[in-house]
Amino acid sequence: MDHAISREFRQLVEDLRLLAYDGEPGFFLICEFYWRLVLKSKPLAPLLTRAQLAPLSRHPRLEAALKEAILRDPSGANLPRWYQHFIGRKYRGATGKFFTPVPVAAAMAALFPIPAQATLLDPACGAGTFLSAVKSQNTSTPAKYVYNDIEPALIELARLGSALNGMQEGETDFYCENIFDPSTRLHATYKDKVDIILANPPFSVYLTDVTFFSPIFSAGYHNSDAIFLDACLHFLKPGGKMALLLPHSLVANANFRKFRIIVEKNWGLLGVIALPEGVFKLTAEATTRTDIVLLEKRTGPVGKRIFGYVQTVGVRTTGRSSETVSNDLDSLVRSNPLGIGL
Ligand SMILES: C[S@@+](CC[C@H](N)C(=O)[O-])C[C@H]1O[C@@H](n2cnc3c(N)ncnc32)[C@H](O)[C@@H]1O
Repeated sequence: MDHAISREFRQLVEDLRLLAYDGEPGFFLICEFYWRLVLKSKPLAPLLTRAQLAPLSRHPRLEAALKEAILRDPSGANLPRWYQHFIGRKYRGATGKFFTPVPVAAAMAALFPIPAQATLLDPACGAGTFLSAVKSQNTSTPAKYVYNDIEPALIELARLGSALNGMQEGETDFYCENIFDPSTRLHATYKDKVDIILANPPFSVYLTDVTFFSPIFSAGYHNSDAIFLDACLHFLKPGGKMALLLPHSLVANANFRKFRIIVEKNWGLLGVIALPEGVFKLTAEATTRTDIVLLEKRTGPVGKRIFGYVQTVGVRTTGRSSETVSNDLDSLVRSNPLGIGL
């Protein structure tokens, strides 16, 4: 999104807020319009009542501007941004929401080849950016895309995103469940069934208790991002692979040494790609430094590994329109560093 569009976008958000479209109603209004205008159908589940839609219809200029903005974005690339403006800001702290910028998700999606009939899972999918990226890069490979997030509005967003991305109903499966609760339908359906997980877990949420076998929790680590690894192990087939973003501290700091030892008992470490600071600054106003960590549910010794640092990832980190945006991460991924084909 360039600077002028960004200004226009903020103006639209402010105008909608004046009509009391804020929080969920604001966001659901946007989803409703994407369904109607781009997909030319009704939302799968009703999002807003007629009474809730009425105020906008009394402001035809604003309605026309909104329609134009949505029709300019038929792929739904701006949907996470709408979400951040209406909802994300309020709740981010509680459930660790930092959306992954599309170029980073696209690079992670290209790291592992997707076998035909593969099952892919994003257990904390947010807007569903990772699975959308996989689908865009593998349009003719038959696969099952499984989405889960704890927040209902995000599952609506992921559902809409998958439809905009051309996914058919039979290709997708949606859940709105707590990934740390082993008694859910998601756990029962996909235990040991998943080939590839792509994820950006909730960061730094303190978990007081977990009700599944978690050596990481038992070792005294209570942060959601660390325990997420034990939760994911449950879903993968032996040899299944995972690419996830983790706080750099887990990879590098001395107080996470025991965590890393536990991880390497259960997982083969395929690689770490350290990202520059500021990757989440524009999508989430967050300064957390993150790394891409590549893992394989352990079956034996691992083959080729990659350890690297990239200086750029194809997103602006300063917000200045003059900033040049190169993408070393993409170049690295395209060089097929794991030697397992693209
Ligand atoms: C860091 S965001 C990543 C979102 C998305 N995967 C992306 O990369 O853009 C983490 C997501 O985890 C979800 N989440 C938080 N706690 C969760 C839980 N216990 N179970 C499932 N999802 C959870 C949040 O709602 C949020 O969408």
